[in-house]
Amino acid sequence: MLGTMELHFNPGTVIEVALRQIAAMNNAFSEDFEPEVRPADPKFGDFQANGVLGFAKSKGANPRALAQQLLEAAQESGQFDPARVELSLAGPGFINFKCTPRYLWDWLNRYADASDFQTGAGKLQAGRKVVIDYPSANTAKQAHIGHLRPMVIGEAIARLLDFCGAETLRDNHIGDWGTNFGTLIMQIKREGIDLNQLVTDPLAQLDQLYKDGSALEKDAPEIRDQSRAELLKLQEGDPENTALWERIVDISKAAFETLYQQMGVRIDVTLGESFYRDKVERVYRELTEDGFAESSEGALVVWHDDVKKFARDNERPYPFNIRKKDGASNYASTDLATILYRVEHYKADEVVYLTDARQQDHFQQLFLTTQKWFAARKYPIPDTRHVWWGTILGKDKKPFKTKSGESIKLQALLDEACERAFTVVTEKNPELPESERRTIAESVGIGALKYADLSSNRTQDYVFDWDRMLSFEGNTAPYLLYAVARINSIFRKAELDPEAPLEGASLLETDTEFALARKLISLPSALNLTLNDLRPHVLCTYLYELAGAYSTFYNADKVMVDDPGTRTRRLLLCARTRTVLITGLKLLGIQPLERM
Ligand code: ARG
Repeated sequence: MLGTMELHFNPGTVIEVALRQIAAMNNAFSEDFEPEVRPADPKFGDFQANGVLGFAKSKGANPRALAQQLLEAAQESGQFDPARVELSLAGPGFINFKCTPRYLWDWLNRYADASDFQTGAGKLQAGRKVVIDYPSANTAKQAHIGHLRPMVIGEAIARLLDFCGAETLRDNHIGDWGTNFGTLIMQIKREGIDLNQLVTDPLAQLDQLYKDGSALEKDAPEIRDQSRAELLKLQEGDPENTALWERIVDISKAAFETLYQQMGVRIDVTLGESFYRDKVERVYRELTEDGFAESSEGALVVWHDDVKKFARDNERPYPFNIRKKDGASNYASTDLATILYRVEHYKADEVVYLTDARQQDHFQQLFLTTQKWFAARKYPIPDTRHVWWGTILGKDKKPFKTKSGESIKLQALLDEACERAFTVVTEKNPELPESERRTIAESVGIGALKYADLSSNRTQDYVFDWDRMLSFEGNTAPYLLYAVARINSIFRKAELDPEAPLEGASLLETDTEFALARKLISLPSALNLTLNDLRPHVLCTYLYELAGAYSTFYNADKVMVDDPGTRTRRLLLCARTRTVLITGLKLLGIQPLERM
């Protein structure tokens, strides 16, 4: 019974499970029936089962008659207590479920604070071990705007999976074994640089050394040869070059660590490409033995003839090149060794990779190769997902760059965000002491940057716009942070703790109260939808709509009225909205504020 279903965190799931059971016992339905329960248009109810429509179509049946039959069976099943939920038929064959005021009230009381949400949400991904590969930057290069999305999106997804009960491992797969080290070591030696003497911003200096080195290589074959020789020495374990390489990697790690701190990125392990250099031999051997890899013009490649997508001509798709002509490992061989390690060592059920859109082909090939290889060897095959994104554009709709056409440094971007936020915060609260305005500005500035990135559908490009992201109106971080601060001030004025239990609330009455309550109980659906395809903008949209429902409620219904039952229930709605907003913001990596 829905009423006795311990007020499941996600009522939608309860409805879905019940409908599946009921259909399974009904002759008119078959095994392949999926109820497809989704949040409904609030005018009609809280949840809607859409599945009958498609099912009826595929069977050539009348959808409305079939939906009517399922609805009656559901009512007779005793699984839907009319005191908890009302069922109705709609449109060409939808079934709507409207939670009763009693049910809403009970749910709001049952799921009261962040730990209750966590307990509820923790069932969504429980028992899954997920390795998340991010931010995985390349070493010896300064962080630039291109590093923003892996940090922001990666962290949000990791937090979301954690919250929903997965056991996550944040694995920073840095690019620390590339050909760039040859050039870099060559140039360091040419200029006689002592890496321990680089004091101010050593990573920026390394970046410059590399640029100078590659500029020299352009017209000088003998310098190119020197770089190649340095790379070979490094690969063969020469002590001097190994020491230089280690120092370079350390400098990079330290610089990135500072950024992670400021961005709230938490990493569990850093196992870069170099970690797998002794693990690629097994990849070559197994894939060759199993007949998946063959040599082609000196390189080792894996063909996937079953995928026409990679074909440039009509003959054969591109192969997956897993070893270079000169015998060196590459990005692909390293990634194959890495996924095996993640399954064998970390027992990953799923591996999630975060990079920009340009690496889609690589990951399709990687996943295909892994599936065939692991199936042949009877290794457990993990779920794999490539979470990719589009480009950050300037107002001219071209990739966002500095005025002189260079890539924007990430630190400069963060500094500007905080500075601009400081101006905005000062305008709003000139009376606050400067130190407090600075703290607020840090959260607002970095939060605005993150939110702008997260709230746009990640697979699309978006236009970077300071004024928009820092606005207190619209789907922005300041708008949501301000909503929380306003609720805080209600409780401050009432001298109440917003997290203390509220007793004696009467049942909901006004339309705006209902609309807000319904939005609150759709948090689990929003989390589920966000998880489905790992798209944080779904959660952003939900939070924005919730803040909107709150604002409508607040404008229509006075909170601090005399009647204690009404006052308490309105305070309860304020408190719940606050908790859901705070929970959501934290999942997105944004630090909520007491006041602003
Ligand atoms: N270092 C790569 C880059 O900057 C991203 C690595 C992504 N992870 C992976 N396992 N391939 O493009």
